[in-house]
Amino acid sequence: MELRIDTFKSYQTAYLKSIESPQLFWSEIASAFEWFAPHQQTFNGSMEEGNIRWFDGGKLNITINALDRHLESKGNDPAIIWEPNDPDDLNETISYKQLHQRVCAFGSALRSCGIEKGDRVILYMPMTPELAIAVLACARIGAVHSVVFAGFSAQALADRIQDAQAKMVITADESRRGGKTIPLKSVVDAALTSCPSIEKVIVQRVTGSACPMESERDIWMHEFLAASKDSNCPPEIMEAEDPLFILYTSGSTGKPKGVVHTTGGYMVYTAYSFANVFQYEPGDIYWCTADIGWITGHSYIIYGPLLNGATTLMFEGIPTYPDASRFWAVCEKYRVNQFYTAPTAIRSLMASGRKCVEKHDLSALKVLGTVGEPINEEAWHWYNEVVGKSNCPIVDTWWQTETGGIMISGLGNLSPTKPAHAGLPLPGIDPVLLDPEGNEITQPNIEGLLCIRSPWPSMIRTTYGDHERCLSTYFRPFPGYYFTGDGARKDELGMIRVIGRVDDVINVSGHRFGTAEIESAINQSEMAVESAVVGFDHEIKGQGIHAFVITEEPIPLHDQGAARARIIDSVEREIGKIARPDRIQFVAALPKTRSGKIMRRILRKVANGDFDGFGDTSTLLDPSVVESIVNNAKSLWFATN
Ligand code: WTA
Repeated sequence: MELRIDTFKSYQTAYLKSIESPQLFWSEIASAFEWFAPHQQTFNGSMEEGNIRWFDGGKLNITINALDRHLESKGNDPAIIWEPNDPDDLNETISYKQLHQRVCAFGSALRSCGIEKGDRVILYMPMTPELAIAVLACARIGAVHSVVFAGFSAQALADRIQDAQAKMVITADESRRGGKTIPLKSVVDAALTSCPSIEKVIVQRVTGSACPMESERDIWMHEFLAASKDSNCPPEIMEAEDPLFILYTSGSTGKPKGVVHTTGGYMVYTAYSFANVFQYEPGDIYWCTADIGWITGHSYIIYGPLLNGATTLMFEGIPTYPDASRFWAVCEKYRVNQFYTAPTAIRSLMASGRKCVEKHDLSALKVLGTVGEPINEEAWHWYNEVVGKSNCPIVDTWWQTETGGIMISGLGNLSPTKPAHAGLPLPGIDPVLLDPEGNEITQPNIEGLLCIRSPWPSMIRTTYGDHERCLSTYFRPFPGYYFTGDGARKDELGMIRVIGRVDDVINVSGHRFGTAEIESAINQSEMAVESAVVGFDHEIKGQGIHAFVITEEPIPLHDQGAARARIIDSVEREIGKIARPDRIQFVAALPKTRSGKIMRRILRKVANGDFDGFGDTSTLLDPSVVESIVNNAKSLWFATN
C-alpha cells in the first residue's frame, strides 16, 4: 500500500474515512509494513482512562522496516548523507546496505556487552552518523534508547540517567559546534558520580582530544565494535506495545518527564506523516536541521525518512558557521528538495540579510517546513519569498514530543496554506478547541484549549516510572480528550493557528522549559531565596526567559552584575546553557495571592514591557508589590531593549 496521498481530494477522502472508521483506516496503513505477526486488534483501551494500545498482537522490529525492507530495491541508494560541522571536512554518504551493516555490527556489539531487550541506553552524542546508528542499533536489539541533547549539563544528564535507571551511556570525546568544542565525555564523567546504574560507557573518538578513560567502565567505540566479531544481528521480536524509546521533555511542574513511545504505533504514524507532509518522492534529498536530541530529530531525521526508504541529510554543525549562509550552501551542495527547520533559525538568518540566501542556487527546493514554535507572519513571508521564491509550499507542522509525529500541517503542495497557520489536521487526527469548562468551541476565530478527541497510533503511552503524572497532565484535565497544553484558534475553513502554551512551559528557540525547572535551578544558587520565571516575546528566540529573584539581602546596584553571573552559573550547572535567563531582575517580593500562589500574569505583563492595566489585583496579599516591581523593571527593560 502506498502511504502517500497525492491530491487534496484524496486527503479529504482519507480524512473522512479516518474519522468515521479509524480502526479500519489505521489497520490498512499498518499492513504496508512488515510484521512478524499481524495485529489482532487495531486499537485497545480508552482515552478516558489514558490507557492506549495500538496494534495489539502485532510483532515487529522497526529496523526491519527502516532498513532490511529496502535492501533489495534500494540497497545502494543513500540512506544518510552526513554533512560535517566544518565544510572542508570529509562528508559521508551511507547507503541502505552500509547503514544496515553498521547498525547490525553496533547492535551485536551492544548484545555482547550484555545489553538486552528492555534495558535503557542513554545517548549523549554529537550529530555524527554514529548517533543515528546507535539509535537504530538499540531498536534492533530491543533496548530502549533515550537520547539526551548534548547541550544539557552534567546534572541534567544525571537526572535523566537516574530516572531511566539506564545501564549504558554512549557518548563522544567532544562534540564540534561551529567554532567551539564541547567536552562531552567530561560532562558524562561528572554525571556518573551519581549514577550507579551505569555499567559501561562507549566513547566515540570525534576530535581526538585527550580524554581520561576509566578502564573498567569506559570503552572506545572503535574497540567496542572491533571486539564484537559477529556482524549478524538478528532483530529482536518486539510486541507492538513494547517501548521503543524514552525522550525527556519539560512540563509545567517538577523535573522533566520521560515520554515513552512504543514500537508499532510510532512506526506507523511517523512513516505515514513523513510521506504525506513532505510529499517525498523517490530520489529526493530531504533535510531536517533539528538535533536528534529532540523529538523532531527522532521522528523526522531517523525513523520517518528511513521507514520510507528516503535519503535523509544529517548536519553536524550550526546555521551560522562558518557564516550565516551555511544552510543555503548545504541546500545547494546536495540539491536539497525538502527543507525542514525552526522559526528561530529562520528569524536569525533573516537578520543576516537576503544576500546570504540569494548567492546560492536553491532551485531544487520543493517543500519548506517549520516546527517547534509558532512562526510569525514576517518570518513566514521571508521564508516563502526569499528562500522558496514563492514557489514552495510551507508546511507549518504543529506537534509535540508527546504526539510522536506531526498532527496539524499542510501536506506538501496539496493543501491550502495561510501564513502563521499550521492548517488542517492529518488524517486520523481529530483536534478540537475547548473552553476552560471543557465545552467544545464550535464558532470560528475563538481561542480555546487545543485538545485531541480520539487516539492516534504514535501518542504518548506513559511518563516513565510515573503513569499518574501522564494521566494528570494529559488525560485528566478534560476526560475523554488528550490535552496539549497549547492555545489555538480555528478559522471558518477549519485552518488552525496555534498560539502558544497556556501552561507554565516556556518555548525558547523551540526548546521547552518548565518555569518550575528553571526556578529550581535558580534557587540552587545560594543567593536566591525565591524566584519566578516567565517568558517574554523575543524577536529571534520566540520567547526569552525573564527571572524575578528574591535574595536574602538586597543587592546593591554595583554588585548586581556579579550576582546575576552566579545565578546564571547555577542554571547552566543544573540544566545547561540553553536555559540561561535573558534577564534577571532582583525584587523584594513577588505578587502573591492570599493563598500563596504567584500571580504570573502580572509578571508576564511586566516582562513584556506592558506596565499598566493589571486587571483585578484585589486577591493579592500586598498589591503594593506590583508597583515596586514595575518601577524596578522599567530600568531593566529599557536597558535590555
Ligand atoms: C510548540 C516539537 C506553533 C507548541 C515538535 C507545542 C508549535 C510545543 C509548533 C512542543 C507549530 C511546535 N506552531 N507551535 N508549528 N510546533 N509548537 O515537544 O507549543 O519540543 O506544544 O515538540 O512546541 O514542543 P516539543
